[in-house]
Amino acid sequence: MADKSQSPPPPPAATSTESSPPPAAVAKSTPQSAPKSPPAAVAASAPAGTSSSQAQAEEGSSTTSLTPAPATPAAPAATAPATTPATAPTTETNTGILPPETWAAAEAGDDADSSLGDLDNVSSTASLTASILEYRTYHGRTYHSDRGDAQYWGSNDARAAESMDINHHMLTLCLDGKLFRAPLDGDKIEKVLDVGTGTGIWAIDFADQYPNAEVIGTDLSPIQPTWVPPNLMFEIDDATQPWTFPADSFDYVHMRYLVGSIVDWTALYRQAFKALKPGGWLEDYEAAPFLESDDGSVEETSALGQWGRIFIEGGKRMNRSFEVVDHDVQRTAMAAAGFVDIQTWDFKCPVGGWPEDPKLNRIGLFSQLALESDIEGYVLFITNVISGWSREQVLVYIARLRRELRDKRYHGYFRLRAVWGRKPEAK
Ligand SMILES: C[S@@+](CC[C@H](N)C(=O)[O-])C[C@H]1O[C@@H](n2cnc3c(N)ncnc32)[C@H](O)[C@@H]1O
Repeated sequence: MADKSQSPPPPPAATSTESSPPPAAVAKSTPQSAPKSPPAAVAASAPAGTSSSQAQAEEGSSTTSLTPAPATPAAPAATAPATTPATAPTTETNTGILPPETWAAAEAGDDADSSLGDLDNVSSTASLTASILEYRTYHGRTYHSDRGDAQYWGSNDARAAESMDINHHMLTLCLDGKLFRAPLDGDKIEKVLDVGTGTGIWAIDFADQYPNAEVIGTDLSPIQPTWVPPNLMFEIDDATQPWTFPADSFDYVHMRYLVGSIVDWTALYRQAFKALKPGGWLEDYEAAPFLESDDGSVEETSALGQWGRIFIEGGKRMNRSFEVVDHDVQRTAMAAAGFVDIQTWDFKCPVGGWPEDPKLNRIGLFSQLALESDIEGYVLFITNVISGWSREQVLVYIARLRRELRDKRYHGYFRLRAVWGRKPEAK
């Protein structure tokens, strides 16, 4: 297939709190230097009517704070990372995105700068049809076919699958081994749906853990394995088309990382509402696009700082927002769809092995690995959507991003948000 320009989004990130209170969950670090601006991430308002106690208590006990580990002797701890490109960049229009030439200049400048380089931590439910297997290719990477209305920015090839699986592991660490936060009664779960299942790794784990439950995973792309638990099946399905599942049939509907793929979240949640049994739960995990820091170490003009801007702009052009967490879309759309007892869990997910706390340090290393294992698959599509970057320009940006990811002076994290709500019992 001919190369097409359309776009894709960012990987997941991190800290936690539940509902109302601002993501204190991962207490803000007290960095060596004061942050230049407060992390917008944490500015997300606390939803009314959500219970914050549980998650906060859990977080408070285990994650301590997002405090950077002491700098290694090689890294001048007190100085901000040399993120700013050698040549003062001018942003493209008013998007805050630096022009792609920036990164070649920055990389050239850094070749002479040995201080940057502390690299010490390295209609739905359709049946399968021929069209589903027709992928589009972009710079050698495959993406979901653009037939129909669905658009997904991420690659669907083997590298992307590996990144998704690492990401699942990272998220499971964030959740202390749990697969969900909604108050499900494990003995009574009969039927579960995982929408946008990807490689199906969450659904596989869930089916293994609850062998008496019937689990269905749906996705646009047939990238799921064949050897799966007997109580699990996968279906190719565009979740934005009318669902054909019987009404009132599921106990739990799970969604994760559909950010950047959905035009109308309320419409999506309404379909889940209809398919759930009264008393059943919908839970959705989404990530904010920004890589931010509490101590100002991730500057806007760094490659890390540009990541979110690139995805936000790409999302605007695709009419599929990446600002779901920032704009509190999950809570608002769930309430609009009729869900009650809506609760929220926020988590600042570190990227890189910079946190001092051992659990956060491990999470940071896995989120770095998830990102590094397929940065190209994440950004190729989106950079093409926003301004037609050449492959070479994307690769130079990626090289720069990789350097920064491995440099412990950047204390970056993503905000992750889970929201769950209950379909009211029939009156
Ligand atoms: C970032 S991946 C996450 C996969 C999985 N939920 C996980 O967390 O491991 C997003 C997945 O959503 C799927 N997707 C995007 N839009 C979709 C749609 N309209 N219907 C069904 N799946 C969709 C993509 O094909 C992709 O596999």
